[in-house]
Amino acid sequence: MAKTRTAILISGRGSNMAALIDAAEAADFPAEIALVLSNRPDAAGLAKARQRGVDTAVIDHRKFNDRATFEAALNRALSEGKIELVCLAGFMRLLTADFVDSWRNRLINIHPSILPAFKGLQTHERAIAAGVRIHGATAHFVRVTMDEGPVIVQGAVPVLPSDTAESLGERILAVEHRIYPIALALVAGRKARVVSEKVVVEQDGAHAGDALIVPLNA
Ligand code: GRF
Repeated sequence: MAKTRTAILISGRGSNMAALIDAAEAADFPAEIALVLSNRPDAAGLAKARQRGVDTAVIDHRKFNDRATFEAALNRALSEGKIELVCLAGFMRLLTADFVDSWRNRLINIHPSILPAFKGLQTHERAIAAGVRIHGATAHFVRVTMDEGPVIVQGAVPVLPSDTAESLGERILAVEHRIYPIALALVAGRKARVVSEKVVVEQDGAHAGDALIVPLNA
């Protein structure tokens, strides 16, 4: 089967982007990372993508009068790159309903919490403040409402009494780097289908839609 031509949209350091590119280097990975797009010219992830030999483009949102014209430019770049699937990886622009709907079930995101808990920003601070015992990350299909959409893969770690937002965030980031490639492989490989707004996974291998629990000493 031909590899699914995939773009990654970033705004910053691009560690999830790098994890996806590295995973996609495997011969049997069903996605090819054909393009990395940043809305910020100074995103550190751009250099990481170039080092890995991936095409990059910058579409600076500040040069557009409104979201619609910014997104039209995004869509032009995506269609020039013959992109079939889009991964958001720390992309810090809200997307319009038109854009999200036009990429329905071909647009995925990684969020640093076990959704639907802790939507939005500062998830690690809020998890600690709430006193939850586990916290984690979610790879999901994107819907118009921010941080909503069918869950593809989730991973969890314990919250330790000694945790700060930083220490917890570091462990969660490692979880993100594990689950996002799994989610991309499921979607690009057509193993994850959305049925009644839930993801059904058709695959026999490891992590087939299972929760990924990362133990304390992992
Ligand atoms: C990650 O924590 C991701 O879950 C969130 O933004 C952060 C991006 O980090 N959406 P990076 O750019 O992938 O390193």
